[in-house]
Amino acid sequence: MPTASDTQLESHFETLPSNQPMADEIRDNILQNPGFGKHFTDHMAHVRWTVDADWHGHQVRPYGPLTLDPAASVLHYGQEIFEGIKAYRHADGSIWTFRPEKNAERFRRSARRLALPELSDDDFISSLKALLAQDHAWVPTPSSDADECSLYLRPFMIASEAFLGVRPAHEVDYYVIASPAAAYFKGGIEPVSIWLSSHYKRAAPGGTGFAKCGGNYAASLAAQKEAAANDCSQVAFLDAAENKWVEELGGMNLFFVYKDGRIVTPRLTDTILEGVTRNSVLTLAKDAGLTPEERPISIDEWREGAASGEITEVFACGTAAVITPVGELVTENERIRLQGDGNNEIAKRIRKTLLDLQYGRSEDKYGWLTRLV
Ligand code: COI
Repeated sequence: MPTASDTQLESHFETLPSNQPMADEIRDNILQNPGFGKHFTDHMAHVRWTVDADWHGHQVRPYGPLTLDPAASVLHYGQEIFEGIKAYRHADGSIWTFRPEKNAERFRRSARRLALPELSDDDFISSLKALLAQDHAWVPTPSSDADECSLYLRPFMIASEAFLGVRPAHEVDYYVIASPAAAYFKGGIEPVSIWLSSHYKRAAPGGTGFAKCGGNYAASLAAQKEAAANDCSQVAFLDAAENKWVEELGGMNLFFVYKDGRIVTPRLTDTILEGVTRNSVLTLAKDAGLTPEERPISIDEWREGAASGEITEVFACGTAAVITPVGELVTENERIRLQGDGNNEIAKRIRKTLLDLQYGRSEDKYGWLTRLV
């Protein structure tokens, strides 16, 4: 179990406090109903990298627009990566985050794929602590055990060198911004409809699918437009090689619950992002007496399992979405719905276990929590 002393180490981030922080009353009003990704805190963390000086200039400074040269290579060639991780307020007021070392490690993996410099795990985790030391008042207090409000932290790294030649940038900036968040989907934990794109692919073997880079999300938006036009809130992507294997939703991983107690998620390949929530669900599902399986699952298995009642639940999971049941899969010519009562008992049970852990309401037996403030 981490202790408060974890947070008392001298930070190597210099702090330049904002002289115009949001008024308490306005901030508290925002925290009542933050939505997702719409409001930002008073500060941001920043670290600069150059080929010659490595990482330097660790700072927490007032949140505000960036000054970027119009030739900055991120604007032209998309050399960029990001992360998503949350800060949770516990009942005693302390603030914690969940498995940050997994995000730090994935951030390094993404950096390698995008030919960006790797940030150390210490800098990654210290940047979250340094930002929260200033902006802790922005972490909402949950109103009930079902409330999933948090402060969503968005670390990102961009190629800022002004240069139009195509090669890895020699100047890079790392930032962390923070945004108070309620449920990602408007309906909270109500089942969502998912669109199956018959044409668009998100990732191909040898590409960047396993990395958390902006380009993957940009590539998913045309399909996301199709989804919205069909009243669906997300897109399920199939593999690019055979157009057969279920991969992920672009911003979330998928799980399938079987009536015999198996719980299946597509096995990791270089076209699937390894979600921290996905990894945690595999462990929590086993604790709940289910049998987790990581293996390829085809769209035919989804269709047939839904029709026969073998598959009893499908859910999406991710840091932003937590665990959200999938009500139906919609394609150009069919709607794949599950049989049964639609109660999504397993999804709800695992979601409660996960939230209880993250909000400090149950024992952190795997040591997944790190104290920020
Ligand atoms: C997350 O769950 O943190 C994501 O990155 C999904 C999305 C908001 C981009």
